[in-house]
Amino acid sequence: MLIDTYGRVATDLRVSLTDRCNLRCTYCMPEEGLQWLAKPDLLTDDEIVRLIGIAVTSLGIEEVRFTGGEPLLRPGLVGIVERVAALSPRPQMSLTTNGIGLRRTAAALKAAGLDRVNVSLDTLRPDVFKTLTRRDRHKDVLEGLEAAREAGLTPVKVNSVLMPGLNEDEAPDLLAWAVEHDYELRFIEQMPLDAQHGWKREGMITAGDILASLRTRFELTPEGDEARGSAPAERWLVDGGPHRVGVIASVTRPFCSACDRTRLTADGQVRTCLFATEETDLRAALRDGAPDEEVARIWRLAMWGKKAGAGLDDPDFVQPDRPMSAIGG
Ligand code: GTP
Ligand code: 5AD
Ligand code: SF4
Repeated sequence: MLIDTYGRVATDLRVSLTDRCNLRCTYCMPEEGLQWLAKPDLLTDDEIVRLIGIAVTSLGIEEVRFTGGEPLLRPGLVGIVERVAALSPRPQMSLTTNGIGLRRTAAALKAAGLDRVNVSLDTLRPDVFKTLTRRDRHKDVLEGLEAAREAGLTPVKVNSVLMPGLNEDEAPDLLAWAVEHDYELRFIEQMPLDAQHGWKREGMITAGDILASLRTRFELTPEGDEARGSAPAERWLVDGGPHRVGVIASVTRPFCSACDRTRLTADGQVRTCLFATEETDLRAALRDGAPDEEVARIWRLAMWGKKAGAGLDDPDFVQPDRPMSAIGG
């Protein structure tokens, strides 16, 4: 079991498969990209599967989420999913992606054992998409979303970040579209995890702003804490249901006390939190020949040191060196 000193138990493992991405969202990274991890530093497919195996069989992990960067850029993804699906007990498996490339891979991922996907889409307007992501790929994302639903990677969730002056007025349109297409929409508050370190609390669209904007067109009924469990998204029924909308308010309504997550970076470091400033090196242990029990022991010890929360309100808060794209959102 991965338990920390606050009594939280991690049952959800988020695995970043690459720090690279084929978009350049302005709230995430600069136009020129970042200094990507070097190939030899990345965990191999075998190492990833071994670590997930240890997490599932010895550490109580029940759900595995693949993230990036953009995880569809990892050549071995389908094979990794297939091998994780063969583990006993078999974990739930999901993928968080920008959706480009899903049209091509959705069916194969489903056949390999992936359960569902979350797709990032911040706008319905191709021109705004191009400004926000610096790439003209809006159509690819829409087609990827359709492919995911057709392949049965459901429920398909859509993540949207609202940015002032760009798409901040789009919340009701996005929700009407999501209801029509049967996607579960969640809005995410922008977090201080951008590579440029340009985040400012005053410049952020808050959960309060988003809800006020949605309520101009929809009736929202809170779903309640019981249904939420440890999920980051607070959810509301839209016009009495059955469709729902979520808000992930990491900044204004942090949910750290219910956190059930542990994270693995593409270069094999355990992170106890998105905002952790320290990491624990499992890759070194693997490459030094440590047996499974030893790797599990190091992982347990790392999680024992998990802090109470993100600390965004602490006066001495420092943004972690690793940006969102290299942690896995
Ligand atoms: P499901 O609802 O089970 O699909 O999971 P999810 O919402 O955690 O998945 P997803 O990968 O789509 O995450 C959406 C966003 O939630 C991320 O991009 C983050 O912004 C936020 N998030 C995910 N995990 C954490 C976390 O541990 N802490 C905080 N503060 N935010 C998180
Ligand atoms: N704050 C909030 N969400 C972010 N994402 C990327 N960077 C940030 C940030 N700084 C989102 C992406 C994607 C999800 C994985 O994380 O838009 O939906
Ligand atoms: Fe968990 Fe850290 Fe996210 Fe809080 S900020 S929910 S502790 S990962």
